[in-house]
Amino acid sequence: MRVLMTGATGYIGSRVAARLSGRGHTVVAAVRDADAAERLKTQQTSARQGAASLAEVNSLADSTERLRAQEVPARPLIASLAEVDRLAAAARNCDAVVHLAFDFSSGVEGAIERDRAVVAAFASALRNTDKPLVVTSATGLLGNTGPTPVGESHPPEAGFRLAIRHRVEVDVLSEAAKGVRASVIRVPILVHTAAGGGPIERLITTARRTGTSYWIGSGENRLPCVHLDDLVDLYVRALEAAPAGHVYNSNGGDISLREFAETVGRAVGVPARSLAPEQAVDHFGPFFATLLPVDNRVSNARACTELGWAPYRARPSLAEDLTALGQASRA
Ligand SMILES: NC(=O)c1ccc[n+]([C@@H]2O[C@H](COP(=O)([O-])OP(=O)(O)OC[C@H]3O[C@@H](n4cnc5c(N)ncnc54)[C@H](OP(=O)(O)O)[C@@H]3O)[C@@H](O)[C@H]2O)c1
Repeated sequence: MRVLMTGATGYIGSRVAARLSGRGHTVVAAVRDADAAERLKTQQTSARQGAASLAEVNSLADSTERLRAQEVPARPLIASLAEVDRLAAAARNCDAVVHLAFDFSSGVEGAIERDRAVVAAFASALRNTDKPLVVTSATGLLGNTGPTPVGESHPPEAGFRLAIRHRVEVDVLSEAAKGVRASVIRVPILVHTAAGGGPIERLITTARRTGTSYWIGSGENRLPCVHLDDLVDLYVRALEAAPAGHVYNSNGGDISLREFAETVGRAVGVPARSLAPEQAVDHFGPFFATLLPVDNRVSNARACTELGWAPYRARPSLAEDLTALGQASRA
């Protein structure tokens, strides 16, 4: 398939692009400017390596051969998220779309507004084609779920600051009734890999810089987590097989915030302690201060039963990756 991607220069998207390319798909990466196109080229070396090793893990020997023969795993197309007409035109020329870019630069409301406009453009381009459109969301939008893991139809916590991302999911699902094989992947709060990068590395850096790894309040709340390569696997499965109109929680397991902070502390070699909730914004910034204290328990049963997803079968645990990352940050 010829797959149009947004966010292919990002933490998750670069690995998705590599894996799709490794499976023989042609990836067209919508990037915002020439600098991003250059970054894409820089990522291609590591992306190719990542894809080759993942292909080995998955016994995709033939894909690995194809990948070796391929010069460029993703072809850049200059189109920022603001250029919805260009994105729609590109989508019309592709067989599928995977949308991972998210622009926080104008705040959460601005990001959601932009996301909805991009999803609308993609959906209108793909209408009545039954082509796949895989859109990214976040388990975090649910806020506090309570002690029992919830499925995908559980409503977001009323008044939770990030719940407005749910509007994007509602838009996507309405497109599924109009001849688009639209699905949503909800990314969990903690996405890890020993290769580093992403929000987890920022939390490790904060602990090392401040000399303490904090949890917030009692730290008994639980956060969903996933290995980056398992998450990538789910994107591929959704693209290739998800029925129209399905949302998938992509967590592989969960961990209490306290246990997470203690593991980071051990990995980095700093003490772990509780932080008063009113100090969380100063220490972590508004984004993590909102997300880290939530009790966000979600079930991945739908992804496992419908798409055959099997997280943590062949991947390191969160604790193993944190230890590797902590050692690397001390070296
Ligand atoms: N990583 C996590 O732990 C996590 C957890 C929950 C949900 N998510 C969701 O997963 C998605 C991907 O996350 P990520 O961690 O991979 O993000 P990331 O590393 O920050 O990458 C963001 C991507 O979006 C692109 N982008 C941002 N603004 C853009 C614009 N105006 N026009 C075009 N492209 C733009 C970036 O391009 P440039 O290279 O040009 O900056 C980059 O490719 C996001 O929707 C995020 O909310 C991630």
